[in-house]
Amino acid sequence: MRCLLTASLVFATLAGSVYGHGRDSNSPLPRRKTLGFGPEHPHAVFNSNLHPLQTAGFVSDEPLDVAHHFVTDLLGPSVSGGASWKIRKDSYTDDNTGVTHVYIRQIVNGLEVADGDININIKDGRVLSYGNSFYNGPTPAPFSSTTAPEDLRHPQAEFCDQIPRHMPYAAPMPDGQVLLDAPSQSPVISHIAESNCAHPQLPASLTSDSSDFRPALLQFMLAATPNRELAQDITENYQKHIDDMLISDESHFAPGDEATVQFKVDNVPDAVNPAKARLAYIQLPSKLDGAMELQLVWKFEVEMQDNWYESAVTVSAPHRIISVVDWASDAPVPTPSPERKPATYKVFGWGVNDPECGERSVEKESFDGHASPAGWHAIPHEHDPSYRSVRGQEKPGFWRNTTTTWGNNVLAQENWEGLNRFVDNYRPDGGEDRVFDYRYEPNETDKEDALEEAKAYINATVTQLFYTANLVHDIYYRYGFTEVAGNFQQYNFGRGGQQNDAVITNAQDGSGFNNANFMTPPDGQNGRMRMYLWNTAIPYRDGDLEAGIVIHEFSHGLSTRLTGGPANSGCLGWGESGGMGEGWGDFLATTIRSNRNYSDYSMGAWAANSITGIRHYKYSMDEDVNPSTYKTLDKPGYWGVHAIGEVWAEMLWVVSQGLIKKHGFSDTLFPPAPGPDGVVPRDHHFWRQDKDLLVPRHGNTLMVQLVLNGMKLQPCRPSFFDARDAIIEADRILTGGENVCLLWKGFAKRGLGFDAQVQGRTPWGGGIRTDGYAVHPDCRDEE
Ligand SMILES: *[C@@H]1O[C@H](CO)[C@@H](O)[C@H](O)[C@H]1NC(C)=O
Ligand SMILES: *[C@@H]1O[C@H](CO)[C@@H](O)[C@H](O)[C@H]1NC(C)=O
Ligand SMILES: *[C@@H]1O[C@H](CO)[C@@H](O)[C@H](O)[C@H]1NC(C)=O
Ligand SMILES: *[C@@H]1O[C@H](CO)[C@@H](O)[C@H](O)[C@H]1NC(C)=O
Repeated sequence: MRCLLTASLVFATLAGSVYGHGRDSNSPLPRRKTLGFGPEHPHAVFNSNLHPLQTAGFVSDEPLDVAHHFVTDLLGPSVSGGASWKIRKDSYTDDNTGVTHVYIRQIVNGLEVADGDININIKDGRVLSYGNSFYNGPTPAPFSSTTAPEDLRHPQAEFCDQIPRHMPYAAPMPDGQVLLDAPSQSPVISHIAESNCAHPQLPASLTSDSSDFRPALLQFMLAATPNRELAQDITENYQKHIDDMLISDESHFAPGDEATVQFKVDNVPDAVNPAKARLAYIQLPSKLDGAMELQLVWKFEVEMQDNWYESAVTVSAPHRIISVVDWASDAPVPTPSPERKPATYKVFGWGVNDPECGERSVEKESFDGHASPAGWHAIPHEHDPSYRSVRGQEKPGFWRNTTTTWGNNVLAQENWEGLNRFVDNYRPDGGEDRVFDYRYEPNETDKEDALEEAKAYINATVTQLFYTANLVHDIYYRYGFTEVAGNFQQYNFGRGGQQNDAVITNAQDGSGFNNANFMTPPDGQNGRMRMYLWNTAIPYRDGDLEAGIVIHEFSHGLSTRLTGGPANSGCLGWGESGGMGEGWGDFLATTIRSNRNYSDYSMGAWAANSITGIRHYKYSMDEDVNPSTYKTLDKPGYWGVHAIGEVWAEMLWVVSQGLIKKHGFSDTLFPPAPGPDGVVPRDHHFWRQDKDLLVPRHGNTLMVQLVLNGMKLQPCRPSFFDARDAIIEADRILTGGENVCLLWKGFAKRGLGFDAQVQGRTPWGGGIRTDGYAVHPDCRDEE
């Protein structure tokens, strides 16, 4: 309990001004700039709780056949002409629930509709639920590679015109702070407008050809780069930047799967790796009547130092940015060889949230034999980013035993430089016995020394990050974040999914202060977690040592990969969906630290040196302590994803306490590990025995399971309603629905009941909401 109440009062004022107002005068570095917006899909539906009769038309043992028939029926004659669809290869069957999650992408005129998604959840030959955001208007004329002459305009002029409409809300202020606010108030917009739009001369040799995507890409980079000198240079040396970009064809990319050719582009200004480009359609409300129409866009994937963007920019000039998803998510912004002896670590053990919650202890490499069959310190040579094969040299064995914080799930190191390279960065070496026991005794120093003081315990901090991140990998695995579901591992043990995507975790990352972030590209590419120091106190506080922050970050990878399928990282980009991406992390971190004696919890309180932490309120059952309801999203200050996420996390917290009241509390969230035979014991202390499915017995474990299963069921770009319905559906699938009314009751307590409503939602999360306190009509008898 100490850790809840003793956050230093001495610094509370400082923390209040630092975090309460999002101002960070101490930070020597600007905060990350991030963009996230896109069109709303008013026609999108998530239909859970289908009546069996609705879907009984075709029953088959083969889920893909069922999906095929269902989609054909669903779309009926509305899909005609140039329209078709494909079943994506990242569809999979969940081992425990037996639900097959099928992801379908719409294709029109041979091109993908980037936001035309159907997800179907199938079990026992039946469709349980589905989400659908397919375009259902008339098929446009096929793409032609010429643009009408009147469309020819210089991208720069276009950019300047479009600024107010297409640069929404998150942008750094000159002094480094980020404002999360309505579009018109974004200061970077006026900055760019002033600096870049004051040069009206256009290059004489201007031509425009819509089959050349370089102007569109450059236009995007102009908006995306946080570097003002570069932005200036792009506008002044426009043609040179265009000419420098080298395009190569990547047609080998997933043969037969991609609907279109993908290009690779080198020398994109501010990109750290070659960018990717492909043609696609995206849905936009028409200017005439608001009905959806298809717009031809270039879809770009651009990896930058601090962002990893997926964007859609119109093909025809004037190039407009239609949508942007940053696969990087910030945390707190207010601011094998199993026979080997287990490694040991001197760390804050699992459940000790931060240095104010307990002492460090020596913990064993407690890998879960099911989640990490080779332990945490082994990696196949073939999948080892540090392995450089030397021609002619004898091939080593398959596995490499490591003695550092380098393994199949987590690649942990310092990153003081703040750059993208990581392989040769420093990481502690525990020796043959892998004993990671290091000093952590930061002393009071002058501010000038604070950074050096923190660097002096880098061994301890990388050890802690490695330990926490591996445990998070293992626990999420056990609740269903497996290889086929898109988890993060270099090697997948032949269990499906895409590999070579362990999480790169950077401790004391030099690219920022007082924050943390996580980048989630699609399955098969490494996730990247960057943990920062917090200069909120002397000695500095190290985010790596606050488990809640690490868990929150890792959870971005979880929710992004589970929502809309492993290969689609664009489902939690902005608005309510983006907000819930934050909220799940807070909820899971809070659940992991909680114990059977109920208590309220804050997020990031230690790192931020503030009792209330980095959110508006503590997570609490008490409405006086945390008054958040659905309607809260309408308030000023609730545009940004973190504020939205806080409301969602509070709802989940309230719902979970209802389950705990009914089913009790399990002291461990870890299911029993499998025995030497690989068989997981059906331990009745952890699971209930009366079902075919593994149903967690207690309220807290059941809630974690329902939350993860809900992520798999919900559609791409879910609303609060969709995510709520998916959790309720998850209970129907797992328990036969015995908690459905309790779940409704929990959501209704915070205004997300059956009669909750929203009108006029905007892409960045606005709209007018009405709290609804009613449960589903089927539950009213129970009250
Ligand atoms: C890794 O360690 C295990 C257990 O000590 C040993 O059996 C195995 O041979 C080692 N592998 C390599 C490649 O050294
Ligand atoms: C902090 O001070 C103690 C006692 O003077 C000293 O032993 C220790 O090395 C210092 N810690 C660091 C990281 O310099
Ligand atoms: C980290 O540990 C290694 C090996 O035990 C030691 O040589 C090194 O000095 C330590 N680094 C720091 C910064 O304490
Ligand atoms: C919960 O509270 C009881 C009674 O105060 C105490 O004995 C027990 O150790 C506490 N449990 C935990 C996990 O904190």
